[in-house]
Order: sequence, then structure tokens, then C-alpha cells
Amino acid sequence: MDMIKGIKGVKDILPEETPRWRFIEDAARRWALCYGYQEIRIPIFEFTALFARSIGTTTDIVEKEMYTFPDRDGTSLTLRPEGTAGTVRAFIEHNRAADPLPQKYFYIGPMFRHERPQAGRLRQFHQFGVESFGTSDPRADVEAIALLWRLLSDLSLPDLTLEINSLGSSGDRVAYKPILLAFLSQQESHLCANCRRRMETNPLRVLDCKVPDCRAATESAPKLTDHLSPEARTHFDQVLTGLAAIEIPYRLNPRLVRGLDYYCLTSFEITSTHLGAQNAVGAGGRYDGLVETLGGPSVPAVGFAVGLERVSLMLPGTAASSSHDSFYYVAAFGEEGSKFGLVLLDELRRVGLSAQCDYRASTLKAHLRQADRSKCRYAILLGDDEAGRGFVILRNLESKVQEELPLVGLASLLHSRILTR
Ligand code: HAM
Repeated sequence: MDMIKGIKGVKDILPEETPRWRFIEDAARRWALCYGYQEIRIPIFEFTALFARSIGTTTDIVEKEMYTFPDRDGTSLTLRPEGTAGTVRAFIEHNRAADPLPQKYFYIGPMFRHERPQAGRLRQFHQFGVESFGTSDPRADVEAIALLWRLLSDLSLPDLTLEINSLGSSGDRVAYKPILLAFLSQQESHLCANCRRRMETNPLRVLDCKVPDCRAATESAPKLTDHLSPEARTHFDQVLTGLAAIEIPYRLNPRLVRGLDYYCLTSFEITSTHLGAQNAVGAGGRYDGLVETLGGPSVPAVGFAVGLERVSLMLPGTAASSSHDSFYYVAAFGEEGSKFGLVLLDELRRVGLSAQCDYRASTLKAHLRQADRSKCRYAILLGDDEAGRGFVILRNLESKVQEELPLVGLASLLHSRILTR
């Protein structure tokens, strides 16, 4: 029969890789808790309108990357392409703004975007994200950036650069748009078809285009940061001063406009030269208007998300060594030995010791071969002879040193040995 394969851009994470993933996720959780974020678990799918209204109808994500399908009653649903919209929806729906602010949430989980798969770019990928609600203070921006920077540095990811920009207030962007458009229309003949289209729908995104001709054409484009209102300018300066105070290096990038429409003021991205074309490890910014846009009260917010596949690609090989799988291999053979072996396995596991056995092996020789393959530290030999005498042989699989131990109370004896080691 034909084999049914997995979907393109959707990867299995095999047992050899999961220690690496757990290592990354544990570090993310530890750092998030240390910064006062609490875990939230939001649904994998939502009404399509949630993403359209928050991310923006003219963004690449909403225009062409969402996995959207009708529910049985025809309602349009979408697999979440990111976590901010769902978190904000939950914040509003559960009336969290009535509780004391600020409130800080984090999440870890799969996201879905129909992009062209390549190294570090998948159709199902995983994000660790944080969202901080309730303060417009620039120190909250600094705190979010610091969490991202400290986490990635703690994981020893190489060659990280923090790029930062200010997108100003919505009023600043309205005032800047005609200035940018006047410049872009002079360059129109050098722009790609997509950018020419974007001039009408979302001109700021032209600055973010990766096509070399477009980049050259927009090299001397007027900068939004030169057209900020005094409030936005002060906010940005305070963020930069805060970063300098805690010694987080940054690079100003006036092209950093982000591919989601909800941002205002601070926007940032951490990139690495180790990632090739998909060079953003994590990114985020402030989104003071989004809670209101989604029907909630006016609550300022800031956050970021990290792509965990990208972190995994960059993680030094030695960082997350695979843990010892099982500790004890129970080599139970013969009629009586096998009977007692079944009970012993259960007892070992019930006291919290990891233990395994290959039930296909029926001789001591076959068991010892499997025990060596299993990478267990000890084998417990239990044949009919041992069972009859009420003893087992504990064999250190590395040193081959053996000792005889009583079968009764063996699990607690071994457990107490581990505790006192
Ligand atoms: P984003 O820039 O779309 O922002 O995604 C954040 C990170 O997710 C990227 O920097 C990248 O590492 C990873 N990522 C995105 N798409 C893919 C993909 N197809 N394959 C693998 N990794 C990917 C957001 O999602 C915002 N919600 C971040 C945020 C939270 N802003 C405020 N709060």
C-alpha cells in the first residue's frame, strides 16, 4: 500500500531531538517566570475575523499565509498564525482588565503559516511568546527586550544583533505616509511588482522588501524616526537609554516595520548571521491600540515571540545532551524469573525508578545484548534460580561489577541508594 507522508513544512520532532526542545522550553519558562510572566494556554484555532482584524487584512499573513477553513456551519475558522491575537482575545473575553494591571502572560506552542518551507521556515512552527498588558512606560518595552535578549544569550546563541525602530503613533504614521509615498513614486520604476502594489495597500512594508533592487531604491527613503511626534520621540529615547543602562547593545534599523499591522512605537527584532535568509530569531513590539481594536478597553501592551525551530538550529550541539533513557534493565527469564520480573518492573517504576525490559528476549544472553543496547546503567538478572532463592544479581553494565541483592524490598533499596548517592 502507498505510504501516507507528513505534510510539507510540517515536521516530526523525534525522540533524539526532544531533549533539545525540552531544554529550550525549560529555559524559556524559567526566564519568563523570572520576569514575572504567567503561562496562558490559548486555542490552536479561532474565528478568522480575529486574525484579520488584528494582524491586518493587507498583510502577507492574512492575505496568503493563513490556514483557513469553514466549520460545519460555514463559519470561517483559522489555525493561529501567531499568539498575540488569541492572547488579547482571551484578555478581553475574561475581562482581565478589571483585575489589577499590569498583567504579563507567556505561551509556548505551535503556530501555522502557509509559507514556502526552507531551513528555519516551516508551515507548522513553534513560538515562545510573551505579552505584557497595562503599562505604556518605556521601561516595560526595555523589560520585554531584556527578557528576549537574556534568554537567547543564556542559550549561548551565536552572533545576535538587536535591531530596533520606532513606528511612532498612528498619527505619526498618517503624517509620514504621504512623505514616504512622494519618495516612492519617484522610485516606482525600480520597485518590484509586489512593492508597487504595496504602495497602495501598505507603503511602509516597501521599506522591508528583501529584493536587492527595492532595497537600493529605498536606501535614502525618508525615515519615520525623523518624523516622530515629541511624545513618540521621548518614548523611543527612553527605551534606548534603558537598554544602554542594562548594557544591551542595539542597532537602529529604520527599515524595521514588521509584517503585522498592530504595532506602534517600539518595534524590534533579534537576528543572527547564522540563520541565512530567515535571520530573525525573535521579534516584537508595542501594540497600544490592539486591545481596543478587538473590542476591549484601552490597555497599552508590548510583547515578542521567538521561533523555537530557529533557536534549535542555532543552539550549540553540547547544550542539551540527551538524558540517560532508563536506569535499570530487568533481565527476567525462565518461567519463575519472568513472573517475578513483571512484578519487579512494576515496583521499580512505582518508586519512581526508570526501568525497562525487552519481552522478546528469553535467554540471559539475549537479555544482556538488549541491556547493552538500551544504554541502561544497570541490569537486574533474574532467572528461575534467583527467583527460587529470593535474590537478584545487580550488574553494573559499564564496570561489569555484580552484587547479589534480596528480591524482597529491592525497589525501595535501590531507590534509597539513589537518594543517598
Ligand atoms: P513574527 O515576527 O511574525 O511576530 O514572528 C516571531 C518569530 O516567529 C519570528 O522572528 C521567527 O523566529 C518565528 N517565525 C515566524 N514565522 C515562522 C515560520 N514560518 N517558521 C519558523 N519560524 C517562524 C509575531 O508572531 C508576533 N505575534 C510577535 C509579538 C508578540 N509581538 C508582540 N507580541
